[in-house]
Amino acid sequence: MSGPGAQPGAHEGERLQKILARTGFGSRRVCEILIADGRVRVNGSVADLGRRVDVAHDRVEVDGVPIGVAEGLVYYLLNKPRGVVTTASDPQGRPIVVDLVPPSPRVFPVGRLDTDTEGLLLLTNDGELAHRMTHPSFGVEKEYLAEVEGTPPPAAVRRLREGVELDDGRTAPAKVALVPPNVLRIVIHEGRNRQVRRMCEAVGHPVVRLVRTRVGVLVDRALGPGEWRSLEVGEVRALERAVRPA
Ligand code: URA
Repeated sequence: MSGPGAQPGAHEGERLQKILARTGFGSRRVCEILIADGRVRVNGSVADLGRRVDVAHDRVEVDGVPIGVAEGLVYYLLNKPRGVVTTASDPQGRPIVVDLVPPSPRVFPVGRLDTDTEGLLLLTNDGELAHRMTHPSFGVEKEYLAEVEGTPPPAAVRRLREGVELDDGRTAPAKVALVPPNVLRIVIHEGRNRQVRRMCEAVGHPVVRLVRTRVGVLVDRALGPGEWRSLEVGEVRALERAVRPA
C-alpha cells in the first residue's frame, strides 16, 4: 500500500537508482546523480531520489529515452525463410519458426506467414502485445513485396487498392504500387488467411514469390533468411503505442 504523501500513480517497487544501475547506467551513485540532475522521468514526470518504480507498470526515461522493457519479456524479429512453418510445434515434423530463435524463454509467433512466404515475423512471450497486434481493431500495417505472374495493368492495381471480392468478403482498401514489371508493393492492415495471394489471384496475377518487408514500425533489410535479432526498446515502445487502446 502506498503511504501518505506517495506520488500519484507510484507503485511499490524497487528504488529507481537500483533499476537504472542494473540497466547499465553506471553505479548506484552515478544513477543517483542522474536522478538528482533531473534527467530521469517516470511516467512523464521528473523523478526524485526516493522514487520507487515497478518496471512492469512505470515508464522510465533517461534523457527522454525509455529504459529496458519488463523483465522476462523477449521480442525477436525473424526473417522467416520459405519452407518454415509458422507454428510452435508441428506434428508432421516440418521445420518451424520457434526452432530458429532461442528456446528459452518460450516464445510464439505473432500472426502467421504461409509456409511458402518469406520475411519478417515477430516472436514474443508478451501475450498482451501479441493479442493486440493481431486484433483487427488495431489494424497494424503489414507490407509485402509480391512477385506476380505477368504485369498487372493499372486497372488491376486500382482494384487491389479499392478492395477485391474474396470468398470471405471484400478486402479493405490497401496501399498498392507496381514496381515494374511484375512486383507489387502491397500494404494491408487485415490479417486474413493467404490474403495477399488471394487478392493477387483475384485480379488475375497469381503470386510467384511473397516477402513481408514490414510489420508496423518493424523493418530490417540487413536480416538474412533464417536470421533473427532482438527488438530495440524503442521498437517495443513504438509497437505498444500503435496498439494502445484509444
Ligand atoms: N498474405 C498471404 O497471402 N500470405 C502470407 O503469408 C501473408 C499475407
